[in-house]
Amino acid sequence: TPSRLIFSFLVRISFTFSIGYRHQQTTAKRVEEVEFDGPCMKTEVPGPRSKILAQQLEAIQSVVQVNFFCDYEESKGNYLVDVDGNRMLDVYTQIASIPIGYNHPALTKVMTDPKNMGTFVNRPALGMMPPEQFSEKLVNGLMVAPKGFSRVQTMACGSCSNENAYKAIFIWYRGQQFLSLVFSFFFQVPGCPDLTLLSFMGGFHGRTLGCLATTHTKAIQKLDVPSFDWPIAPFPQLRYPLGQFERENAQEEARCLEEVEDLIVKWNQKGRHVAGVVIEPIQAEGGDNHASFDFYRKLRGITKKHGCAFLVDEVQTGGGSTGKFWAHEHWGLDDPADIVSFSKKMLTGGYYQKNSFQPDKPFRIFNTWLGDHTKNLLLTEVIKVIKTENLLDQAKRSGKVILEGLYNLQDKYPHLLSRARGIGTFCAIDVKDEDTRNNLILKARNKGVVLGGCGTQSIRFRPALVFTEHHAHLFLDIFNDAIAELK
Ligand SMILES: Cc1ncc(COP(=O)(O)O)c(C=O)c1O
Repeated sequence: TPSRLIFSFLVRISFTFSIGYRHQQTTAKRVEEVEFDGPCMKTEVPGPRSKILAQQLEAIQSVVQVNFFCDYEESKGNYLVDVDGNRMLDVYTQIASIPIGYNHPALTKVMTDPKNMGTFVNRPALGMMPPEQFSEKLVNGLMVAPKGFSRVQTMACGSCSNENAYKAIFIWYRGQQFLSLVFSFFFQVPGCPDLTLLSFMGGFHGRTLGCLATTHTKAIQKLDVPSFDWPIAPFPQLRYPLGQFERENAQEEARCLEEVEDLIVKWNQKGRHVAGVVIEPIQAEGGDNHASFDFYRKLRGITKKHGCAFLVDEVQTGGGSTGKFWAHEHWGLDDPADIVSFSKKMLTGGYYQKNSFQPDKPFRIFNTWLGDHTKNLLLTEVIKVIKTENLLDQAKRSGKVILEGLYNLQDKYPHLLSRARGIGTFCAIDVKDEDTRNNLILKARNKGVVLGGCGTQSIRFRPALVFTEHHAHLFLDIFNDAIAELK
């Protein structure tokens, strides 16, 4: 249809950024014009007010994972303010989910624009009666689609996106199988083929039932929950520094790729066909585990060879922090994936899919909300800001400062820190053990820096895209002080 053609044309427009955002005129104020000049701590975190609120919440909900309560009116730019008035530099951003900092004026403007009131007040369900500007906003907001994708399905969260992407893969796979419907009707439970999805040790794709079958990080996430018996391949365990272990790491990646291919062949032979392979470009929750771009290129080749769909989960890596809008762009492939899922920095969840993954009948991929149009409105502005303020280049520059700082710190404290790694601001470092890691995160927080852990002993850095070199230096100074206190 004409609208589909226009959509596909627009999403193919490449993401060209202008240079030197500091000197450019933009309609909204930039982060440095609106934010604070540094952290300011008044109490330990959590402070007394946070503790009272936690007690109140405990009466109705588990609070074990609540760190502290926040004042979202007062928070600005890279600074998160808590209910006790502590102002902290946020290098974690709600698990990588605040793309352009707190209370960005461009987003406040969207919220207060009378034109958008109907959307914010009514929050329409998008499945059956979408608003007039729905496709326009999808085209605008999602024109950062990876190369080769012209279709997008919005969803609510990351798990919900992957869960439905898995279904799309199975439906697609069945469509490829000769006379599949006839056979399933006569010889199998109708409509319930015994297909599988291959995932990787250390991968995280969410906590809903299907996703959980492909999530292999912490045992507690899977405890007591029945799961699918699907193939799991090893993910390369790279040794650092990379330059020193090139041969060993190449062997390790070859071993994992061989195992992937073996698994696909074996599971296909036993009649439990591998319909798809799901992987993160960097295993985030699992401990910021990287593999080389070449590993991913070869893996993509294996999926093509064996007719498996390739789902790249960019829920955490997508949105610009690696210095490219999608981390898989670093692989340099013309046809990198069949489906790419997103959420977090994209605000709305969802996935891009190739045309052939669109189910042929209604209600096969469906739920009431199918995302949230208020998020689509906000995302349109986020993408404008990323473009006009040249924030992908900013992520590269700030990431360089972070990574160099981490290398220095691990040289300075070799008994405590190791394996500094990262692309753009998507960086991490390992601490000698889990307790020390957790202790370091708390010490940094009380000094005014919010950090998060991942894996068993890593600290991950996930600042917003408005995190500048200045913030990186500030963070490294405070982090250094916190480490010094550990000795
Ligand atoms: C790579 C990846 N996939 C999926 C998810 C699940 O997203 P959500 O927590 O929004 O369900 C996450 C969450 O951290 C993630 O990092």
